[in-house]
Amino acid sequence: MIELACDAVLARLEPLYRDHRNWPAERAAIARLIEQARTERNADLRALDRIRLANPDWFNAASMVGYSLYVDRFAGNLTGLMDRLDWLGHLGVRMLHPLPMTPGQAGDSDGGFAVADYCAVAPALGTIDEVGELTRKLHARGMVLAVDCVLNHCARDHPWAQAALGGDADKREYFHVIEDRIVVDRREAELIDIFPETAPGNFTWEPELNASVWTSFYPFQWDLNWSNPAVFREMLAVLLFWANLGIDAFRLDSAPFLWKREGTNCRNLPETHQIVAGLRAALDIAAPGTILIAEAIERTADVLGYLEPADGGRACQMAYHNGLMAGIWYALARQDVRPAARLVADSALGRRDIAWLTYLRCHDDIIWSALGPLVEADELARIPAFFAGEGESFARGARFQVQAAALPNTVGTMASLLGGADSAALARYALMMTTLLALPGVPMLYMGDEIALENARADQAFADARWLNRPWMDWNLVDGPQNDRNFAARNRFFEVTRSLLALRAGLPMLDATAPAHVLGDADGLLLLERGEGTQRLLLAANFATMPRDIPDLSGWETMVAITGETRMTTILPAGTAVWYLSHE
Ligand code: GLC
Repeated sequence: MIELACDAVLARLEPLYRDHRNWPAERAAIARLIEQARTERNADLRALDRIRLANPDWFNAASMVGYSLYVDRFAGNLTGLMDRLDWLGHLGVRMLHPLPMTPGQAGDSDGGFAVADYCAVAPALGTIDEVGELTRKLHARGMVLAVDCVLNHCARDHPWAQAALGGDADKREYFHVIEDRIVVDRREAELIDIFPETAPGNFTWEPELNASVWTSFYPFQWDLNWSNPAVFREMLAVLLFWANLGIDAFRLDSAPFLWKREGTNCRNLPETHQIVAGLRAALDIAAPGTILIAEAIERTADVLGYLEPADGGRACQMAYHNGLMAGIWYALARQDVRPAARLVADSALGRRDIAWLTYLRCHDDIIWSALGPLVEADELARIPAFFAGEGESFARGARFQVQAAALPNTVGTMASLLGGADSAALARYALMMTTLLALPGVPMLYMGDEIALENARADQAFADARWLNRPWMDWNLVDGPQNDRNFAARNRFFEVTRSLLALRAGLPMLDATAPAHVLGDADGLLLLERGEGTQRLLLAANFATMPRDIPDLSGWETMVAITGETRMTTILPAGTAVWYLSHE
């Protein structure tokens, strides 16, 4: 009976697991788990589910803007975070994304992405009850909470890995443990190295197992074996636990890597899409108001598979548009908006209940390879040097994972990549934000960008250079005395951000899925029309170092977001962007 209700989920899983010896027991256990979570969901969350089911594009409103943060670096702990909700609301944020709050591997935990306990909160940050309290406070304000679900790997400290190390045969099957070194070498040759400098290779020799363990990221992050249905059940239980605590959205960390198949590079395989669709189908029964966000830092064509699976079913509701993010930074470096324009054109979505997650910076590096199909290799190769501040560049970032023959990535905070917190950097910030906020998608801001936080000092950093762009929030720059020079400069960044978000929230043509048409991409000038009929907006973003004429402005009235200027401007100064609204 219960299995019948879960048919849609089991149908997704059957092709993956039917040959597994434990499948009959696991399928019954999975069905029971979903049913139990469904019945335990509280009345408030069910009411929210009903509202969202009636409005399946609820997360796409122009007012929906995310903010990603480290709880400790932002406000010390969860109590501190709750104390800052007024401030976040004033900024115009509606979706909070705290980076992993779960207990991590002792010592280096890859910023919490090596999870030692999926259903707990790190004691230094607070308690599970406080997360529940946070969700209620956010919901009362019309805000939502997104948390990470690190699906691909757990910490070596996690009890599953520890049990495997201790000889537990059952738990050993939760991981990819390979005894034969020849097999390891053969698989290694098919895979891409994610951290070639700080964690070369995809396997780690574990003497206690007398075998190698698959570790795509750091050696202390053990890849889970998703071909074992017990892993699906365990991770589904994690999602359902948090969903019933009130979490609204799950960032599916490292989504591309779940399924491994010999003869492939083990990224974005159809089986991985099937797993994600299986998780979605289970949530559709037990917690239908939740959404899934794919963190797949891949080329756009590959990311689309998480939003619009080939079989037309449902998988993720949002996906990070890393290609477009890289395209906008590329435009800034090269005064060439064509790659970004092309990505907008190529990534139109066919449905309103899915959306891109757009962003400029996050806690990770900028990976340039998504631009590979659009930019000549030697042209692209100049970009990491530009953002590392070489030559004529204003940028103050750094290269990440430099490796001979490969394209290095880039690290640095938004302000540092823009050259600091002076007025030239502020102008670049306004150009970038005015562009970001007009793109199709739900924008996600990153902690500290709104007050121009610069790269973390060396003593705040670890060996992994991504810590450069993870500085501690400096509340003196927010709350400080008006006569403090730093405060005043940084506060201008805050005001630009706040006023743009306030403006955007009132412009329905900037809903995440409202139509987007590129009207021009020549000479560093991006012309992008959003919306339709009487509700239209034109973004004109001049990434060139020269003023540019806007060709035809009949039917538009201007609105210069940053300065409050409302006169029609037909000549756009170098490095500025405006939004025009249609007359009607
Ligand atoms: C994601 C996270 C990144 C982490 C990796 C491994 O890409 O954003 O910070 O290192 O997954 O979990």
